[in-house]
Amino acid sequence: MDRYLVFGHPVRHSKSPFIHTLFARQTQQELEYGLAEPAIDEFANALQVFFAQGGKGCNVTVPFKEQAFTLVDRLSPRAKRAGAVNTIKLTDDGVLLGDNTDGAGLVADLKSHGVTLADSRILLLGAGGAARGALAPLLAELPSELVIANRTHTKAQLLAAEFHDLGPVTAQTYEQLAGPFDLVINSTSASLQGELPPLAPALIHTDIAIYDMMYGASDTAFISWAKQHGARQTMDGLGMLVEQAAEAFTVWRGIRPGTKQVLRELKRNLGVI
Ligand code: ATR
Repeated sequence: MDRYLVFGHPVRHSKSPFIHTLFARQTQQELEYGLAEPAIDEFANALQVFFAQGGKGCNVTVPFKEQAFTLVDRLSPRAKRAGAVNTIKLTDDGVLLGDNTDGAGLVADLKSHGVTLADSRILLLGAGGAARGALAPLLAELPSELVIANRTHTKAQLLAAEFHDLGPVTAQTYEQLAGPFDLVINSTSASLQGELPPLAPALIHTDIAIYDMMYGASDTAFISWAKQHGARQTMDGLGMLVEQAAEAFTVWRGIRPGTKQVLRELKRNLGVI
């Protein structure tokens, strides 16, 4: 049977096996999907062994995405732009193709929630790997403006300069930000420490859409905060997780699985509904 897995550290709580098993059942594809948690300095070796032993493809998650970028034979244009690889496919001619489906997953999830990106003013919080992966797919939707704000302002400036050729992207400090924004996307890891990005509450209004790439069984700190300040449309990163997986599945199997039912089952599995 064709074998796939996700590499990460830690990866025990990954929902990818659950999601891909449902995709496989739905599309009647025969495959198995597992987990691998190599030591940090063992990833390159573990990847090589997996494919030498007949693996067909894998996902790569924290902290290996940047390393995976350097280990594949060929990169898709979107992986090149993202500077990171979250999906690897062994092609029929034996080439390890590195791809990145995270940004496409974000955009697909935003659209499934009915969020309009064209001509919108988007505020992206954070300038790390997650922000980098989101920039090209967001700019491809032709927003009127995309502002990056980051605690370390120089990182936001570098990122804005790097993506400037793709659209109207600028960097501003948290203090400089002036609304109204139509959509705020939190790509920071602040909530992992139970912290909030230092965003002025005045930027939140009733018609704004709030997206947090993080997710949990209950509202993330950022989503709770935004609701407290009047945001009515809030979304967490669970949908993005399912959509990036669907995109990876499509890369591997050439068939696109439906995501609605799988997202519902995942929420049930997590105890969210
Ligand atoms: P990822 O790959 O998930 O994006 P990362 O590359 O480590 O992770 O980036 C984390 C991002 O969250 C950075 O933009 C970081 O800001 P700095 O560049 O200033 O470090 C941001 N971040 C983390 N904790 C934060 C906090 N408490 N408040 C605001 N931003 C925070």
